[in-house]
Amino acid sequence: MNYENILSNYADGITTITINRPKKLNALNKNTIQELHDAFDAAENDKNTKVVIVTGSGEKAFIAGADISEFADFDVKEGGKLAAQGQALLFDFVENLSTPVIAAVNGFALGGGLELAMACHFRVASTNAKMGLPETSLGVIPGYGGTQRLPQLVGKGRAMEMVMTAGMIDANQALSYGLVNHVVAQEELLALAEKIAGKIMRNSSVAISKAIKAINANYRDGKDGFKVEIKQFGKCFGTEDFVEGTTAFLGKRKADFPGK
Ligand code: COA
Repeated sequence: MNYENILSNYADGITTITINRPKKLNALNKNTIQELHDAFDAAENDKNTKVVIVTGSGEKAFIAGADISEFADFDVKEGGKLAAQGQALLFDFVENLSTPVIAAVNGFALGGGLELAMACHFRVASTNAKMGLPETSLGVIPGYGGTQRLPQLVGKGRAMEMVMTAGMIDANQALSYGLVNHVVAQEELLALAEKIAGKIMRNSSVAISKAIKAINANYRDGKDGFKVEIKQFGKCFGTEDFVEGTTAFLGKRKADFPGK
């Protein structure tokens, strides 16, 4: 598919989605959010794609936030609608994909950019990355899940400080906060994400999709994560991957998962 603001490339089991508005530091306008939805949806429905990596083009930014020029004149109703539509179309959508999604944070990840990185299943960053939720400096609050996912990842006190100060943290601080899992030089970032993707791809994609459901359930009000785990655990016993995984182990050979 041809996109205006993003690139989507498939190779060796990995679909890499790149936000491609470098002159605007990859800011998320409405069209980019729709295109990202479409690209993630296509990757989820592509049986060859086992892992999705999302990153930003250029050397400066992952995503410098929602496009401020698009919402500067919104009223109360339009503001609420912007957040609700964005959460449904992209942020919740990505978090609940059954295909693993890795954010490769290659520069500024601010506002909606950090919110997208946080909606991904985990994050790796380059040494030059800077992360923050600067919305209160604009007179607004994070609206794409940032007030919920940041405290889940870094703890309430750190999230409160980041949101109240509207400041940025660097990659090493993000690493010490647990916001990103690894930090490497910018030129090594995609290779690192691909190496981790390679490790993921050796395992059962069906089991991984059920693990995502069970882990996510821990972060949803009204969901009993233990019950979800029991249900998803049980379902694994009806899969071809389970038969292959256990048979291969007992036969002292490497599993070749059919992904069913
Ligand atoms: N929305 C719209 N445009 C944005 C943007 C955003 N979130 N972030 C950057 N841009 C645009 C700038 O307006 C500028 O466009 P122009 O060249 O047409 O003037 C271009 O991207 C380059 O940004 P610039 O500010 O000149 O780069 P910088 O290196 O001086 O500063 C940042 C980088 C990230 C510190 C700065 O761009 C910034 O603070 N951006 C906004 C971050 C933010 O508040 N995000 C949350 C939004 S809710």
